[in-house]
Amino acid sequence: MDDDNRAALVTGASQGLGRSLMHALAAQGWSVVGVARRLEPLERVVSEVRRRGGVAHAIAADLGSAEDAARIAGRATSLVGPLDLVIHNASTLGPTPLRPLLELPEEAFDRVLQVNVVGPFRLTRLLAGSMALRQGGSVVFVSSDAAVAAYPTWGAYGTSKAAQDHLCRIWAEELPEVRFLAIDPGEMDTAMHAAALPDADPATLASPDDVAQALLQHLDAPSGSRLEVSR
Ligand SMILES: NC(=O)c1ccc[n+]([C@@H]2O[C@H](COP(=O)([O-])OP(=O)(O)OC[C@H]3O[C@@H](n4cnc5c(N)ncnc54)[C@H](OP(=O)(O)O)[C@@H]3O)[C@@H](O)[C@H]2O)c1
Repeated sequence: MDDDNRAALVTGASQGLGRSLMHALAAQGWSVVGVARRLEPLERVVSEVRRRGGVAHAIAADLGSAEDAARIAGRATSLVGPLDLVIHNASTLGPTPLRPLLELPEEAFDRVLQVNVVGPFRLTRLLAGSMALRQGGSVVFVSSDAAVAAYPTWGAYGTSKAAQDHLCRIWAEELPEVRFLAIDPGEMDTAMHAAALPDADPATLASPDDVAQALLQHLDAPSGSRLEVSR
């Protein structure tokens, strides 16, 4: 891979860990394309990256939509060329306050799976084939400890993260030319964490900027690995 000409797609790039990944990658010379539903905050991140001398683009799209997935794949490659890295970072918790499965509407459970599992599956199908043909590229699924531990009220999200971890392992088995990783970032001071656990003390949480730096240091791990970013 030409180190000066690497291209990455980051979903959920308008805030939290996704925003930090956009900055960290651009600072290392990657051209970055960010995805989120709301264009305005996403464009703010793109402008920040460009002000610091980086190459960045925004695509407003919903990961839960099949039409949007095709548009993301086409637009991203037309903006920056073939992708070397895809980070499936966008996720939804479902309705907050979080609630037990018995109180969770079926549509809400379905939506969480669409955004957190089916969306990354679709996008990977659209992008990983070309990575395999080029004999390279990495796909990272941002995981969670909720993929492993059964936390009451985190049912939809935890199920989706467990499925995402397994999806990652199966992609790794089926497509050895591409590196697939699941990385648990640990607890971070972000809007998602505040929505899930509003009483948490932000001082006890990692900064998404620090986690982004640490996460990028794991990109050479063996395909199919599940890793935890140490804090
Ligand atoms: N925060 C933590 O403590 C923690 C712990 C473990 C794992 N994680 C994981 O780390 C990742 C990043 O979390 P975060 O805390 O940074 O999240 P966050 O602050 O809630 O940011 C989520 C990002 O995803 C975008 N997004 C949400 N739904 C989307 C959709 N349907 N289509 C496209 N974009 C969508 C949001 O923008 P729009 O709303 O504009 O779409 C936003 O840019 C997630 O995968 C999360 O599960 C977080």
